[in-house]
Amino acid sequence: MNETIDLLQKHVSVRQFSDKKMSEAQVKELILSAQAASSSSFLQAYSIIGIEEEELKRKIARLAGNQPFIAEGSHFFIFCADMQRLNKLAKKRNVDIQLTLEGIDATLVGTVDASLAAQNMTIAAESMGMGVCYIGGIRDAIVEISEMLELPEYVFPIFGLVIGYPKVRNDLKPRMPITGIYHVNKYNNETDRVVDEYEEQTKNYYAHRTGGAKKHSWAESVLSSLKRLPRTETKPFLNQQGMAKK
Ligand SMILES: Cc1cc2nc3c(=O)[nH]c(=O)nc-3n(C[C@H](O)[C@H](O)[C@H](O)COP(=O)(O)O)c2cc1C
Repeated sequence: MNETIDLLQKHVSVRQFSDKKMSEAQVKELILSAQAASSSSFLQAYSIIGIEEEELKRKIARLAGNQPFIAEGSHFFIFCADMQRLNKLAKKRNVDIQLTLEGIDATLVGTVDASLAAQNMTIAAESMGMGVCYIGGIRDAIVEISEMLELPEYVFPIFGLVIGYPKVRNDLKPRMPITGIYHVNKYNNETDRVVDEYEEQTKNYYAHRTGGAKKHSWAESVLSSLKRLPRTETKPFLNQQGMAKK
């Protein structure tokens, strides 16, 4: 349809990278692209931490669900929700925003702002021929990783983004049929048939991608993740950071 839509619809996560590194100028373009995203009330309620120390990257890769490829891309960024800048500003000017900072909505605002910035960075990187993989695995060790990054109050990490030049690209992962996720005028509860159809399609996809080794479907894969990753440390950690209390 056009180059942008083509790029969006060709997205695949990349988990194997070549040794090629991006330049400082490219890193700057990625950060500027991230910053160009929309931001709720223009709060810019996020921070991006570039992990440049190789040993720190490897430690994070181990803690984040033991995913060594995190340290094998050109760059690794951690996206955080960040209300600390706004907290400091309010304190300096004697404005009481405590109720807002402690509310779950501030957590959503920071999470949404960071996610939009990350997706902008993703598209920018993909438009330069690079590949990315989001790393929610950092929340497996949210406490340890936050300590390593010395995150202050009102800041928490949401995901990492590993970016580099692809060595291997997976085939496109088939998305759910449109009727499974797009509802018209009201919520449609009748999506079971669509999910069944999708099961067949995803079974074939995984079997093909793994040369027949994996026989699982989408449902088996997502249910296993949901069971394995309750991440019950997240809420107490957010509360410790002063957030998601109300
Ligand atoms: C917030 C978020 C966290 C993710 N965390 C991980 C991760 O820790 N490890 C990983 O290998 N992939 C991770 N992914 C990538 C997804 O598995 C991937 O996007 C999904 O399976 C769809 O595949 P595709 O991106 O290749 O189309 C994450 C994606 C998102 C959006």
